[in-house]
Amino acid sequence: MPIVPKEIEEYTARYATPESAVFTELVKATYARTDAPMMQVGKIEGAFLRLLASALRAKRVLEVGTFTGYSALCFAEALPDDGKVVTCDIDPKNTMIAREYWEKSPHGKKIELKLGPASETIPALAGEFDLAFIDADKENYPVYWDLIAPKIRPGGIVVIDNVLWGGSVLDAKPDAETRAIIAASKKAAEDPRFLTTMLSVRDGMLLAWKKV
Ligand SMILES: C[S@@+](CC[C@H](N)C(=O)[O-])C[C@H]1O[C@@H](n2cnc3c(N)ncnc32)[C@H](O)[C@@H]1O
Repeated sequence: MPIVPKEIEEYTARYATPESAVFTELVKATYARTDAPMMQVGKIEGAFLRLLASALRAKRVLEVGTFTGYSALCFAEALPDDGKVVTCDIDPKNTMIAREYWEKSPHGKKIELKLGPASETIPALAGEFDLAFIDADKENYPVYWDLIAPKIRPGGIVVIDNVLWGGSVLDAKPDAETRAIIAASKKAAEDPRFLTTMLSVRDGMLLAWKKV
């Protein structure tokens, strides 16, 4: 179920800063070479993530869910030359497409892909992050919150994607994925270390700002 009418999405997209050409090519390749191209965050959310990373003056970004690399490249574009995006995925095939398109961008060198289950990758990461983006397997969303929240610096932000899950968060009997999404949103909202808000942009984004 689309949350926002198509015409409103199209209108909104007109006001996002235009993307660099590599994104158009990446979208084309993702539609041609993958089964689920709609998993890409797309222009509106991509612009939002870029703006957020810029506003935070982020240097270290953690992403869970790389796919073909769209959102990782949005973050990379917003980082300084010595900035770094660590992005996690389990899929070697679609992340090959990501690598291919990151190489076409001068910002691609800022991205480090960690292949393997994110629940194993994240605990092994050293240091704090300015920004984290959770956009992978929904059943593990509560686990990702627990692992990532302590790694965010004070003043940093966690973004959880798909928190409306096409509206199914309102189902009387939500399925396991939906229950996990709701559980992660509740964890964030009830975490005293964070201030939170939920935006009904695209499929819903929860924003959690770590108090300073
Ligand atoms: C919605 S897509 C990410 C879309 C991406 N952010 C973009 O803008 O293109 C979700 C990704 O999570 C990955 N994934 C699924 N289970 C995972 C796990 N246990 N650990 C890490 N990544 C996982 C999938 O392989 C898939 O590529």
